[in-house]
Amino acid sequence: MTAPHHTSASPAAPAPARTVRKAVVPAAGLGTRFLPATKATPKEMLPVVDKPAIQYVVEEAAAAGLDDVLMITGRHKRAIEDHFDHAFELEQALAAKGDTVRLDAVRDPARLANIHHIRQGEPLGLGHAVLCARRHVGDQPFAVLLGDDLIDPRETLLSRMLQVRDRHDGTVVALMEVPPEQIHLYGCAAVAPAAEEGVVRVTGLVEKPSRQDAPSTYAVIGRYVLDPAVFGILERIPPGRGGEIQLTDALQELAAGGTVHGVVFDGLRYDTGDKADYLRTVVRLACDRPDLGPEFLAWLKEFVATAEGDTADRHPLAA
Ligand code: UTP
Repeated sequence: MTAPHHTSASPAAPAPARTVRKAVVPAAGLGTRFLPATKATPKEMLPVVDKPAIQYVVEEAAAAGLDDVLMITGRHKRAIEDHFDHAFELEQALAAKGDTVRLDAVRDPARLANIHHIRQGEPLGLGHAVLCARRHVGDQPFAVLLGDDLIDPRETLLSRMLQVRDRHDGTVVALMEVPPEQIHLYGCAAVAPAAEEGVVRVTGLVEKPSRQDAPSTYAVIGRYVLDPAVFGILERIPPGRGGEIQLTDALQELAAGGTVHGVVFDGLRYDTGDKADYLRTVVRLACDRPDLGPEFLAWLKEFVATAEGDTADRHPLAA
């Protein structure tokens, strides 16, 4: 772990006590599901239409009022750092041409928030990545947004989670119902009702359980508002599943103490670290874009019709 350094000049105003102001974005995983694309590029930097996935995540944090973002980076730190920094030569060249639209697009990432970076020396697990944020975060609650997990920009999940934290203190996780055959891919929550619509009490958590052992079909997705008490737990827990320091194991301890709530999310979420989901994300967000969508969607319809015809030709009995 190294000391964080800063790529944005303007200092943040002092945070009022107990209010969440800081976001942590872990982006130091190996991204093995996306090899070979992720051999020399972090998966968080893969483009979704024309922005890297991690830019959507930082935009989401900024939209929820979190103006201090700490990136936890790994082997390919440079690409992420450079993306959220100024690019003087490029900016000069675009300014000289009077290309203000592209100039803004190049400048936007560095203007989103005060962005800091710290390196996770070894990818010892998500829990370890979060622990790397301890000194920067201090004794305040903070948000964690996974750098490859996209929530559609039209959703307000993170703001809802921050409100739940303000009302109940403790820790807040985001939960999504998944089909039982997919629960082994996620952390899974045991839940009890809470008095609030769309909110549950989390009574236990288990990382990637088999379908038989899963206490529910509520999957924990990549948004958290964590109480700083999580750091003390992460520091002392042994490696768990896969030999990694698991955030889920620390959350399980907090849940046993009765301090974890879940916000149930049924909106649009994309896991860009998974190849098939990545492709769906690009197609959907491209279709939504006013500048690209109409033409792309027209092409897509034609492509699908042709592809269906091709399939029928190749498998006449299946048609
Ligand atoms: P994943 O389990 O999706 O990341 O972690 P991974 O290990 O890179 O993925 P695969 O399975 O090999 O493809 C969720 C998030 O936690 C970060 C990842 O970068 C991702 O944003 N992470 C994971 C870390 O920052 N450090 C780690 O040690 C592990």
